[in-house]
Formats: sequence, C-alpha cells, structure tokens
Amino acid sequence: MDLIEIIGGSPLEGEIQISGSKNASLPMMIASLLTKEKVELDNIPNLSDVLILVELMKSLGAEIQFDQSSDLKNKITCTTKEILNTEASYNLVRKMRASFWVLAPLIARHGEAKVSLPGGCAIGTRPIDFYLSILKKMGVTLDLKEGYVFASIKSRLKPLDFSLDFPSVGVTHFFLMMSSLADGRSIIKNAAKEPEVIALAEMLIKMGAKIKGHGSDIIIVDGVANLNGTKVSIPPDRIEAGTFAIAVSATGGSISLKGVNPNEINLLTNLLEQSGTKISSDGNRLNIKKDNKIIKPMDISTAPYPGFPTDLQAQFMALMALGNGRSTIKENIFENRFMHVQELARFGAKIKLKADTAIVEGVKEFNSAPVMATDLRASASLIIAALSAKGKSSIRRIYHLDRGFDKIENKLKSCGAKIERKRD
Ligand code: UD1
Repeated sequence: MDLIEIIGGSPLEGEIQISGSKNASLPMMIASLLTKEKVELDNIPNLSDVLILVELMKSLGAEIQFDQSSDLKNKITCTTKEILNTEASYNLVRKMRASFWVLAPLIARHGEAKVSLPGGCAIGTRPIDFYLSILKKMGVTLDLKEGYVFASIKSRLKPLDFSLDFPSVGVTHFFLMMSSLADGRSIIKNAAKEPEVIALAEMLIKMGAKIKGHGSDIIIVDGVANLNGTKVSIPPDRIEAGTFAIAVSATGGSISLKGVNPNEINLLTNLLEQSGTKISSDGNRLNIKKDNKIIKPMDISTAPYPGFPTDLQAQFMALMALGNGRSTIKENIFENRFMHVQELARFGAKIKLKADTAIVEGVKEFNSAPVMATDLRASASLIIAALSAKGKSSIRRIYHLDRGFDKIENKLKSCGAKIERKRD
C-alpha cells in the first residue's frame, strides 16, 4: 500500500489549478444514465471515486470513454442506449456511498433495481430513510433483504410532495433525478442548496428537465417522458480550494488558486481573514497569503450550505490546533466526524471532545509523527498538519485521500512542499 511522506516546516509558494468538483461529478455522471443519448462531461477530476463509478456505470450498460489529459481537464463521454443490468453490487457500492444514487436512473428509466445498501466513509451512521420514503411515495415497491434494496415499479413514477427533515444533499440529487422523469409535478421542501445541487439541476435542465427553484429551499419539477443528451463542464471543487486555502494559512506562504468560484467559499475565506490570513480574489482566482505566525482562534459550527461545510471541518481543526488560544468546533451534520482528533493528537494537537463539539487548545507548533488517515476529508487535515510540523511525518491509508483529492501531492510539490508518495 502507498504512504505519503512529508518533511514539513516550509511555507507554500506558487500557483495551483483547482480540479473539477468530486461531489458534482458523481451525481452528474449518474444523471447521464437517465438518457439513451450521448452525454459529455468535461473537467472531470482524476479520482478513485470517479473510476469506481465508471466501472459501476459500465456494468449497468453504459458505454464510457474516459479521456485523461495532462492539463487536468479530463473528459467523460457516456452513452447508455439501454440499461442491460439492474444490479449495483455490494462490491462496488460499498466502496463509495454515492453509487447508491444509481437507483434513481435504474428505477426511473427501467422500472427495476437491485442496489446494495451503501458503505462509504466511516463518519457515523448514515441512514437512507429519506431515500426509501421518496421511493415509496413515488409508487415503487420495495424489499430490503440480504443487504440489498430491491425496487420495482410497473408504470411511470408518481409525482410527490416531500418535505425533508434535514436538507440532505444526496436526497436532493436523488429527488431531482427521479422527479425529472415522473408523471406530473413534484415538490421538495427544505431542499439542499449546495452548489453541486445547482450544477446537477442545471445539467438536467439542459437535458430537457423542467426544474425551478434549485438553490432555494423549495424545488419544483414537472416530469417529462424522456431526457436528451448534453455537454456540460463540471464546476470547480470548492472543498479542494478550501483545503489549499487552509493549508497555506497553517504553513505560511502565498499561493494563488486558479479556476475557483470565490463566492462558494466566502464563509471560509472570511473566517481565514479573521484568523490572520490575507485573501484577495480576481475573477476565478483566489490569492491567499499568510505572512506571520499569528492564528487567531475561532468558534465555528458546521451547517448545510451556505454554512460552514462539514467537508472542511477536519482541515479547519488542524489550523485551529495551531491557534493562539482556545477554539471550538461543533459538528452538526454527521454524528461521528471526529476520527481525525486522535491522529492530530499524534502531532501534538490538544483537542478534547464533548459530545458534538471539539475544544481545541492551540499549541505553538506541531511535532512530526507517523499517522493514519481515517476518512477522506480527515486525510487532508493530516496532510495540513504534516506540512506544518517540523521534520518527517508519514501518512498511511492514503487510499482515502485518492478518493477525493486530484493529484494533491503534485500540486503541493509545485508549491515547494517536500512530499513524496512511497510504497510501504
Ligand atoms: C454529501 C457529500 C458529502 C458531504 C455531505 C454533507 C457527496 C458525494 N457527498 O453526502 O461529502 O459531507 O453531503 O454536506 O456529495 N440523512 C438522513 N437520512 C437519509 C439521508 C441523509 O438522516 O436518508 C442525514 C445524514 O445522516 C446526515 C445529513 O442527513 O446527518 C446530511 O447528509 P447528506 O447531505 O445526505 O450527505 P450525503 O449526500 O451522503
């Protein structure tokens, strides 16, 4: 297995091209299964989650061409003339939770699906009750047995009026895909407002779907009988951009992020400014500069968009652990998303957990350490800590990192980081 070695303690200086968003690519790739026509998606990030999904989609009958280019602008062309297989196996779905969403095109287009119950990151129990409610309300017959959801419907999907208890991103994606092909008008209340939801809705509209209100609490969809092919570009990864912005704030230095939508990470950049980082933006470029050692402590809580993203919580904690005082970080989205705390402690971080809140007492500097990644975003927090620590650190189980960060070591290396991928 691969590991990453980092000799930390030097500032980051340079320019980084931000890749296409993982969390937008996955639903947008799955949405291409909704039509028998050709769908072209460019700016696809090169990630293991994308490769797993390509494999799964091929197993369902999609013909996929994945063109990988050197300038990070990979392209996927997908044509699914027919759904040839309606089973999404445990072997593939367990590796990546989002693959559960293939249930939507399978049932909406083919009326039948057998999809393994999802796996994914170990960040707490992640129920699927909202998905099952939507399926039932749309007239789908369900049977849960042997670790699989067996779903079938003889006619077109019924429209539904659904109110989410919590603005779930995945369920909003699922609703958009299902209701686009339903027989009438569907409504979802308390919908997720994440940029990735907007990107999926815009793609579906280009495919002929009739969607209004995406980006707000209430989305209304008038179902159509068929969707057509399209050509779209994946938007930039706001979590990747946020991760690099936090990294420079921790190590010092100055980097310019290219191909970002600065508005999407406004909240983070405001917090970084308050903590002592200088930030400026110019169109799709975000400049981050940290020229002193002062990191002001902050109290933050994660929340659905436009709140602070849970996917940046671990990275922000690594920064606050180097702060000049006490910070608190409250996790409101996932109940167990603190697995990185014990690994950060190996670098010398002083963090105590009290229910859903981490109380972080800043330390002057980190020592180097061997650590282990526990989940996707946690692995990025360990990279940030290792870059800030003097001496050589090693990070194992980096397959978590490869799920969601496109060529992270090359990008950091180009900014002067001493980082190497090695065989264990
Ligand atoms: C997506 C993102 C993930 C991010 C998360 C929250 C992708 C591929 N993943 O995950 O990176 O951390 O949004 O921004 O886009 N819930 C239920 N019942 C359900 C479904 C969800 O109770 O049926 C709960 C979850 O347990 C969680 C909350 O809703 O507490 C939000 O989760 P959700 O937005 O659904 O996360 P994902 O879509 O899985």
